[in-house]
Amino acid sequence: MKTRRGSPALPLLLMLLPLPGGSKSGYKPVIIVHGLFDGPKQFMMLTEFIQKAHSGTKVVPISLFDNCASLKPMWKQVQGFRSRINSIMNMYPDGVHLLCFSQGGLVCRAVLSTTPHHNVHTFISLSSPLAGQYGDTDIKYLWWIFHGCLKKEVFHVCYNKLGQKVSICDYWNDPHHRSSYLKSNAFLPLLNGEKPHSNMTAWRDNFLRIKKLVLIGGPDDGVITPWQSSHFGFYDSNERVVEMRNQTFYKNDTFGLKTLEARGDVSVCVQPGVKHTSWHSNFTVFRNCMEKWLT
Ligand SMILES: *[C@@H]1O[C@H](CO)[C@@H](O)[C@H](O)[C@H]1NC(C)=O
Ligand SMILES: *[C@@H]1O[C@H](CO)[C@@H](O)[C@H](O)[C@H]1NC(C)=O
Ligand SMILES: *[C@@H]1O[C@H](CO)[C@@H](O)[C@H](O)[C@H]1NC(C)=O
Ligand SMILES: *[C@@H]1O[C@H](CO)[C@@H](O)[C@H](O)[C@H]1NC(C)=O
Repeated sequence: MKTRRGSPALPLLLMLLPLPGGSKSGYKPVIIVHGLFDGPKQFMMLTEFIQKAHSGTKVVPISLFDNCASLKPMWKQVQGFRSRINSIMNMYPDGVHLLCFSQGGLVCRAVLSTTPHHNVHTFISLSSPLAGQYGDTDIKYLWWIFHGCLKKEVFHVCYNKLGQKVSICDYWNDPHHRSSYLKSNAFLPLLNGEKPHSNMTAWRDNFLRIKKLVLIGGPDDGVITPWQSSHFGFYDSNERVVEMRNQTFYKNDTFGLKTLEARGDVSVCVQPGVKHTSWHSNFTVFRNCMEKWLT
């Protein structure tokens, strides 16, 4: 290439120097786990945001239990995602980040709790029903499973062996039927340590290997109900929202949340004006809540 005489060599030199933190291998890979009725396609924008902000980042949206298969039982999905995530982690001994949307946030929590020696640094939970779900929107949307049910009737469908084979039933948390939830829900009460089990300590230790937990959600979500479930808040028996720090699972530190917060490693990011299906394609959300953690 012909260069004009006297053109400074400095810009070329700067280009050759590695930018601080900007080298190709400088950013940890980001593994993405989708939500209900979703698949990797929904994350094209987010992948672009990440790679524009941090060029060279490897972004891996996992294609597993896509679309209707996302209704499969949660433990089955956890098993599948765990083995996929494990093989990705094995390729990156310096660690990875996990970015999980909606139902995927619960899949990821369960993967983290049940994977000894994982190397996940930041776990971003993007509008996930972390403390459960109790709302009409999603059951209307799933009319062909819950045809005609109101939210107060769904526990009949969900809290039994057959119901537990549908993902949403595994995190259906009816505040008016606490004892049925504890007895018949085979997923969330175990994950939250609300129902004591022999692996609780091990699961807590595994979960606590993460360096940072980022909780993103907001009041205009429209699907996650109550929306505060994205930050571990949930209804009491009067359907009043009890915030994270007043939840028994927090106070008793049943799965490590309190320890994580005491360590200073829980970051809560509330964003108004975002509908459920827009979280992963909203650049402001990426800028405000995700960018700085994905290094
Ligand atoms: C506890 O872990 C063991 C071994 O990993 C497993 O076989 C068992 O099913 C687990 N228990 C629960 C309640 O998940
Ligand atoms: C948490 O519970 C305490 C004691 O019951 C109460 O005083 C406080 O207002 C609660 N905080 C929130 C934010 O709900
Ligand atoms: C929480 O911890 C307290 C004190 O250890 C205990 O009495 C209580 O039963 C625990 N609650 C639950 C739901 O585990
Ligand atoms: C994007 O997010 C911001 C808050 O971070 C919100 O104000 C705005 O309405 C959102 N836009 C869309 C299209 O969701």
